[in-house]
Amino acid sequence: MITNTQINTFEQEGAVTIDTPLTDDQLTQAAQLMDTLLPLGPPRPGEKKPRYRVGENSLLQPSFVSIIANPFFEEVMKKLLYTDNVVITNTAIRKTHPQPNAKFEIGEHTDITYGLADMASKPRRMDLGLFIWIKDVGPKTAPLMYRPKSHLQIAQWMDDRPTYLTKSTDINNYVNMQDTHSRPAGHAKHPDDWPDLEFEDPIPVVGHAGQVSVVNQAAIHGASTNVDTKPRYSFFIGFRPRDVVMGEAKSRFNGRQSYLPKLREVLPPDRHHLIPDDVQ
Ligand SMILES: [Fe+2]
Repeated sequence: MITNTQINTFEQEGAVTIDTPLTDDQLTQAAQLMDTLLPLGPPRPGEKKPRYRVGENSLLQPSFVSIIANPFFEEVMKKLLYTDNVVITNTAIRKTHPQPNAKFEIGEHTDITYGLADMASKPRRMDLGLFIWIKDVGPKTAPLMYRPKSHLQIAQWMDDRPTYLTKSTDINNYVNMQDTHSRPAGHAKHPDDWPDLEFEDPIPVVGHAGQVSVVNQAAIHGASTNVDTKPRYSFFIGFRPRDVVMGEAKSRFNGRQSYLPKLREVLPPDRHHLIPDDVQ
């Protein structure tokens, strides 16, 4: 289980990596299925290179559901979100194929905007994502990169000058947002949007097969190029305290409404409480 020191690291730095009870069998089966489902992708329109980072969302396959259903992840989320009641928001897999001679690049962004009060309330008014490493991830194996403490820097800025969300935001495309300053809000923002602050340099999130990293998606983070010789495999599960309401894109909200009833059908009955009340 996650320790108080690890919780503190997550809150201050924005990320922490811990061990899990996943078995070698579960990891092997998940990796084999990801190999089948996620070959190199076709080039994007106008490009020649294949897509090296490929994925699938809204997982229902038994090998994946056995990981989603593991009570360990729910218990970790309860601790980090300061609540006895968490629900799943979404699931996803990503495989990043190797490009040993490519330039190492990072697609930096934030996914969610919080104020400091959102990250201090009990329960936390936050979505949290678990990145489970199906195989080892080293500093060259397309690690998730993040800038430590940037979640707190941006939240402070939002509290002082709530302008972060105003650029290029049409709230008609969102649910649960009163205005463009509303937070917490799931909302992707890119370097042009960031406040002019001194952020730390990005560092890699590395881990062994079977470990999980929790990364605050309000921190500046991003996928990187796989300049190693082996693929990277990540397995994502998103959680939220049951009664917390988040602003989010209509497309994401509708995706959850369609996925989560199907997930309930394949989860063991004693795990049905992980499905939110607001899905039919
Ligand atoms: Fe992200």
